[in-house]
Amino acid sequence: MGFKILLLNGPNLNMLGIRDPAVYGTDSLETIVKDLKQYAAERNVELRDFQSNHEGAIVDAIHDAYKWADGIVLNAGALTHYSIALRDAIAAVKLPVVEAHLSNVHAREEFRHKSVIAPVCLGVCAGFGRWSYFAGLQALLWNLENKK
Ligand code: DQA
Repeated sequence: MGFKILLLNGPNLNMLGIRDPAVYGTDSLETIVKDLKQYAAERNVELRDFQSNHEGAIVDAIHDAYKWADGIVLNAGALTHYSIALRDAIAAVKLPVVEAHLSNVHAREEFRHKSVIAPVCLGVCAGFGRWSYFAGLQALLWNLENKK
């Protein structure tokens, strides 16, 4: 096996497909995760996934990833905009993290323009719907490849 990556989704992302489909699309999280796992497997990458609506559980998953993962693709949902705990967790583990959003947060309400996690992330993929996850994963893999 090649790299091991954690796909981490925060609050309300379990509601994909039902929640505001005009903004977030009609695919469920399960479908996206299944397709992303296939994309990963084709590249010899082990992709594990976790979703929680609870900030502490997301922090725990980041701490746990320190023990096994090479990097994280993270859609933190609304936590993106205010969770200093999440930012500190990312900074603590020093793993490369790609911030992903289905929607273009900069084209939406002003409170979504600010990401408190962006300064401790490798980069951001936003606005490409389900493809933000794929682009984020691919960018993370390129980063890891170039470090070898
Ligand atoms: C989101 C954007 C956030 O502002 C929002 O709170 C979400 C989803 C996205 O994927 O576009 O829950 O992270």
